Amino acid sequence: MTTTLITGANKGLGFETARRLLAAGHTVWLGSRDAERGRRAAERLGARPVVLDVTDDASVAAAVRTVEAEGGLDVLVNNAGIEGRTADNTVIGPAETTADVMRTTFETNVYGVVRVTHAFLPLLERSAAPVVVNVSSGLASLNALSDPSSPAHFYPGVAYPASKAAVNMITVQYAKAFPRMRINAVEPGFTSTDLNGHTGTQTVQEGAEIIVRMAQTGPDGPTGGYFDAAGPLPW
Ligand SMILES: NC(=O)c1ccc[n+]([C@@H]2O[C@H](COP(=O)([O-])OP(=O)(O)OC[C@H]3O[C@@H](n4cnc5c(N)ncnc54)[C@H](OP(=O)(O)O)[C@@H]3O)[C@@H](O)[C@H]2O)c1
Repeated sequence: MTTTLITGANKGLGFETARRLLAAGHTVWLGSRDAERGRRAAERLGARPVVLDVTDDASVAAAVRTVEAEGGLDVLVNNAGIEGRTADNTVIGPAETTADVMRTTFETNVYGVVRVTHAFLPLLERSAAPVVVNVSSGLASLNALSDPSSPAHFYPGVAYPASKAAVNMITVQYAKAFPRMRINAVEPGFTSTDLNGHTGTQTVQEGAEIIVRMAQTGPDGPTGGYFDAAGPLPW
């Protein structure tokens, strides 16, 4: 039996990933920073709720104790993320990007990934087939954002792409350090969720595809890579 934890799984891509991995036979811990939202989402799916705020050491430590007490962890999906738009759903552009905007975005998208991964490493090391999926973005790609012919080139924000580029680097470095684990970054594609005010063009079913696939990768699968549903992506 494979046990999987998904952060930020009370809605959006994380929720859909939980639904699909439960259908594939995983025991799923549905992470949510809000206890009630998490309880309701887990109840809908038949998952196990666990309160987990990726920006809070104590919350993550408590989640580790809960998951450990119930038998450990095989698969960690670092999905929780924020884009940091303004109240009217506008991407924060370069002129408006302050150090505080960067800090807030990195606190969840970057330090959150490190905080959660670091805390769950001892449990993953005890698994026979440990897997980590870092939910990155196509906007992480320096190639794509600097190429005028790329659809991602138009994206004006600074903090979000920078945070996801950091997630990609973290993925590469962890993958080298823990060769027994399969650790990959994935790009779900532009998906209609609360994150982008439902401007995304894909469904969550389409977006979750590569997250679900990488969560199920076996010991002979890839590690240290960056993938979308069509295959490997250039960094
Ligand atoms: N949608 C896209 O087009 C797209 C494209 C590429 C990558 N992604 C990535 O996909 C992941 C999921 O995003 P989504 O589109 O599904 O967005 P979403 O519907 O807004 O879901 C984001 C999830 O992250 C949670 N979260 C935010 N801050 C958190 C924190 N400090 N601790 C724990 N959970 C936290 C949210 O919880 P609350 O409900 O409590 O806010 C929510 O459950 C993100 O990493 C995002 O960057 C999305």
